[in-house]
Amino acid sequence: MALTRSLTRRDVARLLGVAVAVAAAPAPVGAAAAAARAPARGRARRADVDALLGQLTLEEKISLLHGARDPASRGQAGYLPGVPRLGIPEVRLADGPAGVRVTARATALPAPVALAATFAPDLARRFGAVIGREGRALGMDVLLSPMTNIVRVPQAGRNFETLGEDPLLAAAMVAGEVRGIQGEGLIATAKHYAANNFEHARQSVDARVDERTLREIYLPAFEAAVTAGVGVVMAAYNRVNGVYAAENAHLLTGILRDEWRFAGWVMSDWSATHSGVPAVTAGLDMEMPSGANFAGLAAAVTSGKLAGSVVDTAVRRVLVQLARFGLLGGGRPRPSLDPEAGAGTAREIALAGAVLLRNEGDLLPLTRADLAGRADGTGLAVIGPTAAHPLVGGGGSARVLPARAESPLDALRRQAGPGSRVSWATGVDLEGVPVPASALSLRRAPKGGTPQPAAQVDHTGANALPAGTSWTWTGTLTAPETGDYDLRIQGAGGVPAFNGSISLTVGGVRTGSVGALIGGNSSLIATSGGLTNAGGVVHLESGRPTPIAIAATGAPGTPLQVRLAWITPRRRQEALREAVALAAGARAALVFAFNEGTEGADRASLALPKGQDAVIEAVAAANARTAVVLNTGDPVLMPWLERVPSILQMWYPGQEGADATATLLLGGASPGGKLPVTFPRRAEDAPTAPAERYPGEGGVAVYGEGVFVGYRHYDANDVEPLFPFGHGLSYTRFDYGGLSVRAASGGLSVSFTVTNTGRREGTEVAQVYLGPPSPPPVPMPPRALAGFARVRLRPGERRRVTVTVSRRALQCWSDGRWVLAGGRRTVHVGSSSRDLRLRQEVAVR
Ligand code: BGC
Repeated sequence: MALTRSLTRRDVARLLGVAVAVAAAPAPVGAAAAAARAPARGRARRADVDALLGQLTLEEKISLLHGARDPASRGQAGYLPGVPRLGIPEVRLADGPAGVRVTARATALPAPVALAATFAPDLARRFGAVIGREGRALGMDVLLSPMTNIVRVPQAGRNFETLGEDPLLAAAMVAGEVRGIQGEGLIATAKHYAANNFEHARQSVDARVDERTLREIYLPAFEAAVTAGVGVVMAAYNRVNGVYAAENAHLLTGILRDEWRFAGWVMSDWSATHSGVPAVTAGLDMEMPSGANFAGLAAAVTSGKLAGSVVDTAVRRVLVQLARFGLLGGGRPRPSLDPEAGAGTAREIALAGAVLLRNEGDLLPLTRADLAGRADGTGLAVIGPTAAHPLVGGGGSARVLPARAESPLDALRRQAGPGSRVSWATGVDLEGVPVPASALSLRRAPKGGTPQPAAQVDHTGANALPAGTSWTWTGTLTAPETGDYDLRIQGAGGVPAFNGSISLTVGGVRTGSVGALIGGNSSLIATSGGLTNAGGVVHLESGRPTPIAIAATGAPGTPLQVRLAWITPRRRQEALREAVALAAGARAALVFAFNEGTEGADRASLALPKGQDAVIEAVAAANARTAVVLNTGDPVLMPWLERVPSILQMWYPGQEGADATATLLLGGASPGGKLPVTFPRRAEDAPTAPAERYPGEGGVAVYGEGVFVGYRHYDANDVEPLFPFGHGLSYTRFDYGGLSVRAASGGLSVSFTVTNTGRREGTEVAQVYLGPPSPPPVPMPPRALAGFARVRLRPGERRRVTVTVSRRALQCWSDGRWVLAGGRRTVHVGSSSRDLRLRQEVAVR
């Protein structure tokens, strides 16, 4: 008999019995997979959920298996309506990997790649805890994070969202993060399962990857998330070996359920579901964000095409997690936001993940003398747009509306204090000036209205257009001299639209669009007036009119701002000259350089964009004491490397990144992060350089490099990287000694002593790598990361460190199972994958 009234918490308690008791206890979640699978509790929960399942109509069951429109959206990505009459609540699902993405402000944490650079699973747990608490406080129930994919392609758009190129590192970090998120009662999602490693044709590409490579490289972090008790796994867009990930029975049932015993639910990435019956039968439990395919499951059951038990299994998986997290029958109280705690953790991780790539002559940290200014222009020259406009995080679904964000320039000035002189020049102009009336011949029309002549497009500030109005401008643009013009469409107040709501078309080509979530080309760096800035470079001939069109659709409630600006060839030269002049007169120069990693697009090249290499070259030529601060999400090429003494990689450092950057540059803390990705010297050195591997040919990307991903490739092929995996300097120095290795619980126990031999406190990430036996049972890399330890040491302090190498790290995947790669193997200990200080041979059996 179906219940017809809303259930009270007590009704549900009766129905669920023990499950509610469990749910009401604080944080019964995440501590370990053991908690998820603890036999007695798990069985009880399942029985109670079965009782609930018995009360659901078929339609209600199906409504729990696909997304729907949220009548009271908070700007999150996904929504389930729940079944209120049975105490099954609405469920809100929000991105993402660097903080909670809703319309409200939240703590913007550093990009996950910066977290990976800390090599500190405990920081991953705290990173997760910030998002877990805020997600709950902001009305969310499920978090669409952590991003669990491995960096395979150095220019892939979403590299900044990942935990690096090494499976052991990613597994350790992901486990910590899942525990942190779920410990606060928010259900975590390990995404995107599996082999989702680049953006080009991401919704259709077929990743052809052999089983051993999947098991050794791409799956360990997912398995670690499952072991840590993750509640949800998100199936990826792409195909894996010919079958869409969202209907891939080998991945979703064979590995995830049968082998790993995953008890949570599997949901598709957004619009990644391609079928109803085949997908649910293969092991997909939930379609997102709508029911395009899964709404039809009810009819399939009624007509006998699908067994009702398949639907029940999927619904049960969802309900078991809701019960486990205390969401059934009235839910649990939500915490309040704690922005200061979030900011504190964000700052700590930005500091800990910073990687000092190079520091010749100890140019960094800067000294008081470097900052001291006189009227004649000495002091510190700070150059680059991202010094004045903070690049907080990458683009796409990982973008967070930060609770606050200072610019590095302001942080430097604040921390440098009185008596110092810190001057700024942009070097690279990203903003330009409004295109003058002399270059335009335009007519403007409101929606449905009559066109009128318009001199310029510059509706900003007090001159903004009324909220909710729509406009078009059409006409021509004529350049005064031949050259490459960076045409910018800048705006705010557009109606939220998938493809953007304020767009510029030049010569029939859509050149810029503002306000697109994914796949648009808005810069991550706003204009100084806070406008979103999009556009592209167009070659214009002097005196020749080029047709242009602008369309803008405004949202209700906010004035619509629209500006057409340009950066002329002349202005580019001028910006460069200003930067060089500033640097030439300064005691030291800092150039802030950036790239813009985003979901939806890979980078066209590994080079820094926007002519930044030329600026760095010119500034370094003008001032020998030049340091580069990088805000990139992944590797960039550095043709200027030899001419720049110091390079500090800050990644996308989150909302507290400016303060962390200034603290490190001025010596308030020493960098202690290590590269979680290899930086190649040349693009063609990357393992995925052949086109058939990336972006693939005919819709197929062959993972032909096999397990030789990241540093494994560079080491096996003797290719010198620009900066190796695990590299990162400090303001102090560390010595290694006293290695001893012994067998322990199926693996190894590796002990050694690390000593801080410098004069400052510092942090070292000691790394243990393992060589293959000779001969290896299968082709193996010369070294693979087998363990690590992050240690903080005072000057002169020495510490005995013990790193446990698990049995799995001694195994390889062969003939469908894990086998021990036994024999004599070398244990290396060092400061990076190429700075190995200690070694010992051990017999592994
Ligand atoms: C992304 C996911 C994200 C989802 C919801 C997709 O396009 O690939 O990572 O969680 O959108 O925003």
